[in-house]
Amino acid sequence: MSVPAHVAIIMDGNGRWAAQRGLPRIKGHKAGVRAVERILEAASEAGLQHLSLYAFSTENWKRPAGEVMALMALLRIYLRVFLPSLRQKRIRFHHLGSREGIPPGVLADMDTLAEATRNHEGLCFHLAVNYGSRLELAQAARRCVEDGLSPEAVDEAALNDRLWTAGVPDVDLLIRTSGEHRISNFMLWQAAYAEFHLTDCLWPDFGPAELRAALDDYATRDRRFGGL
Ligand code: IPE
Ligand code: IPE
Ligand code: MG
Repeated sequence: MSVPAHVAIIMDGNGRWAAQRGLPRIKGHKAGVRAVERILEAASEAGLQHLSLYAFSTENWKRPAGEVMALMALLRIYLRVFLPSLRQKRIRFHHLGSREGIPPGVLADMDTLAEATRNHEGLCFHLAVNYGSRLELAQAARRCVEDGLSPEAVDEAALNDRLWTAGVPDVDLLIRTSGEHRISNFMLWQAAYAEFHLTDCLWPDFGPAELRAALDDYATRDRRFGGL
């Protein structure tokens, strides 16, 4: 049975999960963090090489300041508390996204985690924070210019090598929770031939069984990449 090398997840529905319980949105985000921990373990055990989780988009800055601050604070707690489990599971941490605008404390914690786990040979965990595909592509184009590339040298490989995902294989399976059917500026380039798995499950309810169902669904797909 084929196992995808790179799974990307748009973790959506934390706010609705909280609203259904009459709780403030931040409680949904807290429950979402617990789901991240479960999925990291399940992804590791399933033998995935890369797992990219969309935690905060370049558009999410539009949310009320209180929610943004609470999310950033939660991220810091998470980055510190989960380090021991990343060590134990030999998971490598990598930030995906622009550093500009992220509070310095969050950046420092992400850098520490990346450094502490850089030699781990297990699952590579890419956390998308302040990530937006359009910004990523624009900065890749700018870097081609800064690197002095001639127009002929600006090809698919040149751009690919300048994305935040440089060196990471394309997304094989893209999962979105909470019943939304849109890509919300995530992995526009990398998901060119990704298989989609859309589920109504809200992110805080997503667990190993839901990941298994997505992987089983993926295994039934006939991937053609434009060929026959
Ligand atoms: C996803 O949950 C997490 C983030 C985007 C930070 P939402 O906060 O988008 O939850 P809903 O979509 O409002 O339910
Ligand atoms: C996508 O969720 C971004 C993340 C999961 C981080 P949103 O909740 O921000 O997406 P839209 O606004 O519903 O498209
Ligand atoms: Mg949402």
